[in-house]
Amino acid sequence: MNAYDPRPLMSSSTPRTFDVEALWPLCLDIVRQRRSAGAPPPPVLLPLEGWNDEAVELLALLDPLLDRPPQGAPWVIGQLGQSLDGCIATRGGDSNYVNGAQVLLHLHRLRALCDAVIVGAGTVAIDNPQLTTRRVAGEHPVRVVLDPALRLPPSLRVFTDRQAPTLLACDAAREAEAARRVGADQVLGVPGLVNAEGTMDLHALLAALERRGLHVLFVEGGGITVSRFIAQGCMNRLHLSVAPVLIGGGRPGLLLPPRTAMRDCPRPASRVFRMGADVLWDLDLRGPG
Ligand SMILES: NC(=O)c1ccc[n+]([C@@H]2O[C@H](COP(=O)([O-])OP(=O)(O)OC[C@H]3O[C@@H](n4cnc5c(N)ncnc54)[C@H](OP(=O)(O)O)[C@@H]3O)[C@@H](O)[C@H]2O)c1
Repeated sequence: MNAYDPRPLMSSSTPRTFDVEALWPLCLDIVRQRRSAGAPPPPVLLPLEGWNDEAVELLALLDPLLDRPPQGAPWVIGQLGQSLDGCIATRGGDSNYVNGAQVLLHLHRLRALCDAVIVGAGTVAIDNPQLTTRRVAGEHPVRVVLDPALRLPPSLRVFTDRQAPTLLACDAAREAEAARRVGADQVLGVPGLVNAEGTMDLHALLAALERRGLHVLFVEGGGITVSRFIAQGCMNRLHLSVAPVLIGGGRPGLLLPPRTAMRDCPRPASRVFRMGADVLWDLDLRGPG
């Protein structure tokens, strides 16, 4: 449970039974303290008495994220919303919407609690997303786009709407080219980021984001991007939301290096949360942090 004293925010007018509406500002305040604090806040536990069941469940789900120290190694949480048959979109790329409203709301909460949201070029090309927190109160995260081949058109919303900072992550060797496309302030050129096969060194990316003060990172998709973070040991937790829908021959979610024997297959520690008709698996992958 995180170390945080909510009492200044719980005035005498605060209701005796606290719900998610009452919890959310406290979560945002914890994040604000983490971002601004030189030292951790005092070790006072959030009192569980008085919260309703929904708020207690949400706090349990978010606690690993809220419990991040102000400094330290980058900490990475990923998400994928998938069908029962393991697809995150149809073959043509339609993913609106695999999951129900509760998972969508959860995505926006994760954006608000993280310093940056990371997406692959495939998702940006197909969805033209905004990656903002428009469904919840809270600051928009910095938007980080992984586009090693610089194939994305500069007219996409993340590069033009200026709702939140955007960083197009590419190899330093192509930084000038990227700057000509989307503007120098929207480029993060990292030396040695992309190898000859076009694969990114995600440890180098995390280090570069950390130098920008971005410590708690949310990898929102798609499947290729999340899978590469896991394969390189760069993801601490994964929220995998399974919806009772069958897509059939769609875009795959996790695609990890194959194993021969069942005994060698990882079985991460897990917790399960109901999200309306969907089931969210919270997987502890024990990544870099
Ligand atoms: N259901 C969900 O939760 C969810 C979430 C997000 C997106 N989506 C859907 O998923 C689909 C897109 O997912 P996707 O898996 O096809 O693509 P993606 O993960 O969004 O993007 C993959 C591309 O990003 C670049 N990239 C990402 N990580 C990289 C790395 N480590 N090294 C080098 N390049 C990297 C590469 O670009 P290049 O191809 O240029 O090399 C790669 O092919 C869309 O249909 C979208 O709507 C669903």
